[in-house]
Amino acid sequence: MPPSEDSGPSGTNVDLPSGAAKAVAVRRMFDSIAPRYDLVNRIMTFRMDVAWRRRTVSMLELPAGSIVMDVACGTGDLCRDLSGAGHSVVGLDMSWGMLAAARTDAPLLHADALKQPVGEGSLDGLTCGFALRNFTSLEPFFFEAARLVRSGGRIALLEVDSPVNPLLRFGHAFYFGRVVPLVGGLFSDRDAYRYLPRSVAYLPPEEDLLSMVAAAGFGEVQKTRLSGGIAQLITATRS
Ligand SMILES: C[S@@+](CC[C@H](N)C(=O)[O-])C[C@H]1O[C@@H](n2cnc3c(N)ncnc32)[C@H](O)[C@@H]1O
Repeated sequence: MPPSEDSGPSGTNVDLPSGAAKAVAVRRMFDSIAPRYDLVNRIMTFRMDVAWRRRTVSMLELPAGSIVMDVACGTGDLCRDLSGAGHSVVGLDMSWGMLAAARTDAPLLHADALKQPVGEGSLDGLTCGFALRNFTSLEPFFFEAARLVRSGGRIALLEVDSPVNPLLRFGHAFYFGRVVPLVGGLFSDRDAYRYLPRSVAYLPPEEDLLSMVAAAGFGEVQKTRLSGGIAQLITATRS
């Protein structure tokens, strides 16, 4: 975590921030890592993130021409894939740094995922990549998604995960907790890439997460494990 008077000192031995302090710290962190965000992503996932995003778009299962919001769009990777699938895309993020580094033709909004300036039922679909654990609270986000997506519309939420297999889980914990901060430190901001693995702790247990999505107003809630369970894709249909 980058130093922040709100969030406490950087490093691995501090509690993760919450509430307003978390929002400030997350925005600052993404502002600072934006210029090399894509490069570090490709290196630390061995380009698997590219395939995961494509899967996210295909599992949205919407016809070309659908109106889709990519929430927490960052540098616009998902926006590009959604546009490539023929959708009308809008990206939204709260980090000016990430938006400035975005490489997409999609219109971009600077806004909070928990309070989006978009009308009720105006979207056919909504995607979100690797951002759930960065939100200050998950339930308001799922309710906001349910407000924006029309009945029958779809959501696809991509996030990191921990493998179920104990051996894979151990190897993944070592890689994510030890190697990723080193790689991040070589190419970008080491403190930020220490925070990112630790931020997985913000995610609730699988059952709770899926129940929250259902409780917000979605059916057919499904979790797909990707690449041995190091990433997860949650898809659902607006009731
Ligand atoms: C790990 S990046 C993911 C970027 C992109 N979705 C991707 O797939 O690479 C997380 C993004 O979430 C954004 N973010 C975090 N909290 C947010 C919020 N409350 N509202 C909007 N964007 C948020 C950050 O600014 C950052 O760009």
